[in-house]
Order: sequence, then structure tokens, then C-alpha cells
Amino acid sequence: MLKPETIAIIKSTVPVLEVHGKAITTRFYEKLFKSHPELLNLFNHGNQKQGRQQTALANAVYAAAVHIDRLHEIMPAVKVIAHKHVSLGVTPDQYPIVGENLLSAISEVLGDAATPEILGAWEEAYSVIAGAFIGVETEMTDEALHQPGGWAGFRKFTVSRKMAESGNITSFYLVPEDGGPLASFEPGQYVTVQMKIPGREHLVNRQYSLSDRPGQPYYRISVKKETGTDTREPGVASAYLHEAVQEGDTLLLSVPAGAFTLDRSADTPVVLLSAGVGLTPLTSMLRTIRAEQPARPVTFIHTAACGKLHAMKDMLQEEGVTAAAENGLRTHICYTQPADEDRSEGAFHTEGRLTAEKLKEITAEAGAKADYYICGPVSFMRDMIGYLRELGVPAESLHYEFFGPSLNL
Ligand SMILES: Cc1cc2nc3c(=O)[nH]c(=O)nc-3n(C[C@H](O)[C@H](O)[C@H](O)COP(=O)(O)OP(=O)(O)OC[C@H]3O[C@@H](n4cnc5c(N)ncnc54)[C@H](O)[C@@H]3O)c2cc1C
Ligand code: HEM
Repeated sequence: MLKPETIAIIKSTVPVLEVHGKAITTRFYEKLFKSHPELLNLFNHGNQKQGRQQTALANAVYAAAVHIDRLHEIMPAVKVIAHKHVSLGVTPDQYPIVGENLLSAISEVLGDAATPEILGAWEEAYSVIAGAFIGVETEMTDEALHQPGGWAGFRKFTVSRKMAESGNITSFYLVPEDGGPLASFEPGQYVTVQMKIPGREHLVNRQYSLSDRPGQPYYRISVKKETGTDTREPGVASAYLHEAVQEGDTLLLSVPAGAFTLDRSADTPVVLLSAGVGLTPLTSMLRTIRAEQPARPVTFIHTAACGKLHAMKDMLQEEGVTAAAENGLRTHICYTQPADEDRSEGAFHTEGRLTAEKLKEITAEAGAKADYYICGPVSFMRDMIGYLRELGVPAESLHYEFFGPSLNL
């Protein structure tokens, strides 16, 4: 345990470090990849370039430092990160490497202000924080390995079926190449897919939510193709999966992970609220509820640009969604840019963005007693969470997943 003096130094320096947070973590990554270039195989370079990973790391380190004498209070946040680490195969021996480069970046950015006393305190604090992560991650890795059908690291899967779900989303059905059993998972969890893409120097790791329910003889992921624009390059992994990976090919998968999961033991009403490809973890939840808890009230709200880009319409039909409030299942489809044929087919309920008033109306029955699961672009999640807070939904009933490094909403 840290001495009270050390804790006092840590807490008094957090605000100073926060001011330089981004500079420190940016310098940290430069140093890390220079001293350990093999780690470039682990990180998502797009997240690095956009700065989201730097922000996420800085926020996590400072939050942990503020809670250094009561780390149990931030365990839920630690677990979210630990799931990501475990699915990527982060190992305990990599923690000292990260610690050394972080300390060195702090020292460099703070210059003379970084006294030996301050650096010593941070060294001790990092080792406590790292110890907490390593403890949680070792437990998760053991559990993942020893569950029926479980494994460690990456396992080979064959693409047994590749199916377009919309103009830009394609599903991949994946079965283990070794023919062995398949670990179950909680609806909402994801796998990391590790790819060696021809022409790329480093391995590419990306997370994809499992989009079907557990208990099937396959895992299914559904991937949106990130097309480029004048200012944005096309997505590396999604383009590869859409264009190069075919039925019969092999993909490497981590064991399912993630803390954004449906509470299957509860019977509260559930509202599933997604935009675009954010529907993937929620379709897994919807299918699970319909299979296991058919009487549980569920509202499925989905926003897509138009009918062509609206994925998994068939799934909703299979689940018996033909009209609102049928069999305890209510659905609301919102198109932001509907085509004329979408209008003539009556393919959607609302045109334009979901507003606070509209959301209030759709969720009136479920109300503040429901559990809300939200996934979509950051701006969508920020809006929806804001509206739901205004409607009095308590924080513990709001569950959301980021398709990238977590942010504070
Ligand atoms: C928990 C979790 C679950 C996920 N589930 C799914 C899922 O079910 N389905 C799904 O499709 N995706 C999912 N994702 C997202 C997925 O992991 C990938 O991030 C996504 O497929 C894009 O990867 P990519 O390699 O194609 O794009 P990248 O090459 O990583 O690029 C991503 C985006 O950033 C832009 N970009 C790249 N470089 C820069 C730059 N220098 N500056 C600015 N912009 C840049 C690209 O144009 C692109 O739009 C999930 C992510 C997480 C964390
Ligand atoms: C105490 C030390 C650490 C902290 C506080 C920390 C924190 C974080 C946070 C906050 C994220 C983003 C999670 C999310 O929101 O999805 C993350 C992701 C990640 N971490 Fe760590 N981490 C630590 C140690 C490590 C170590 C030792 C490694 C291995 C070298 C590592 C590798 C990664 C990778 C590869 C990702 C995914 C990033 C991406 O691809 O965008 N981390 N970490």
C-alpha cells in the first residue's frame, strides 16, 4: 500500500498532469513505439492518429491516480479496459514497459517541475494501478480459457458464410477451424479479429460485436465498410474484410469479451437504441431476449440513413415485428435521408433525426424503469444519453458501447 505522503503527492499533481495530459500521452506513445516497435502490432493506428487513444489513456491514468487509495470505486471502468486488453492479448510483462515510457514522458513534458520526489511517487502509483489491471486481467484470461469451448490468444475460424446485410454492412459467419466447441458469450460482447493484411507492415486488430445470439453453432460479426472521403482514408480492416475475405478463408479471433452486456437475469423492460452499424450488439440482445425471455417488453429503436443502408431488416421480420407493440416487442425505425421508394413502401416510422420529443413519445411506456442499451456514433450517443437523462432515466439504467476508445459523455 502507498504511504499517505505518496498519495498526497499523487493527488496534488494530478491537476498539473491533466493540463499536460494529451502532450504526455502523445510523447509516451512516440517513445513506446520507438523503444518497442513490436507493439505497433497491437495498437490501432487510426485511433492513434485521431488522438482518441491518447485521451482515453490519459483519462484512465488520472482517474486511477485520483482514486489511488480506493481503486475498488473505479473497478467497473477498470473492467471495461481490462476486457479490451484481454481480447487484444495484453500481457503482464508489458506493464513495466508502458510504466517506464509513461514516467519518462511525464519527466520530459514537465521538465524541471518533475522533481525526483514527484517522479518517485508516480512510479509507485503506476505500479499499484498496473497491479490492479494485471489482477483483473489474469482472472479474466483464466476464466476465458477454462470455460467450455474457451481458448487463450487467437483461434483460427473459417468464414462459413458471407452475407450482405445492407449497402455497406456485411455479415461473416465464423466456425472454429479445429471443429471444437464454441465458448458462449453474453449478448453485447465483441471479439478482436487479428488480420495480417497483404502490403501492411503490422498486424491489424479490430473489435467486432457478435451480432447473433449465443447458442448458435457459429459466431457472427457484421462489419460496416468505412469508405474514404476527400479528407479521410478508407478503413483498413473493414475494406479488407469486405473486399478480400471470402467464404472458406481463415480469420483469427480472440475469445468474446466486453462489459456492455444484457442483464439476462433481470425482467425490466429493455430499450435498444442504435444508429447505423451500432445495431450489431443490440441485435444479439434482441434475439436473445426473444428466444429466452419472450414476455420481456422490448423496444427496438434504430436509425439508418435510408432503406438501402438499413441492415438486418429480415431479422426484424423473423422476430415477428410487423406492427408496433406486437408480442411485447415494439419497434421504431427512423430514416434520416429516406428515398422516395422508402416513403412509398412505408419502410420507416420517423423521418429526420431522433429528437428528445420523439424519443419521449416512443419510450413513454418503458419510461424511467427500463434498461437502455445504446450504440452508435459518438454524437448520436451523446444526444440520446442527454435526452434520456432529461427524461429522468437514472445513470445505472443507461448502458452504452463505443466502437472505439471510450470517451466521457
Ligand atoms: C467494442 C467494439 C465493437 C465494435 N463492433 C463493430 C461492429 O459490430 N461492426 C463494425 O463495423 N465495427 C465495429 N467496431 C469498429 C471496428 O472495430 C473498426 O474500428 C471499424 O471496422 C473501422 O476499422 P477500419 O480498420 O476499417 O478503419 P480504420 O482504418 O481504423 O479507420 C477508421 C476510421 O477513421 C478514419 N481515419 C483513418 N485514419 C484517419 C486519420 N489519420 N485521421 C482521421 N480519420 C482517419 C477512416 O477513414 C475510418 O473512417 C467496433 C469497435 C469496438 C471498439
Ligand atoms: C495501467 C496501465 C494501463 C492503462 C491505465 C491503460 C488504459 C487503456 C485505456 C483507457 C484504453 C482504451 C480502452 C477503451 O476505451 O476501449 C486502453 C486500450 C488499449 N491498451 Fe491499455 N492501458 C494500460 C496498459 C496497457 C499495456 C501494458 C498495454 C500493452 C502494451 C496496453 C495496450 C492497449 C491497447 C493495444 C489498447 C487498444 C488501443 C487501440 O487499439 O486503440 N495497455 N488502455
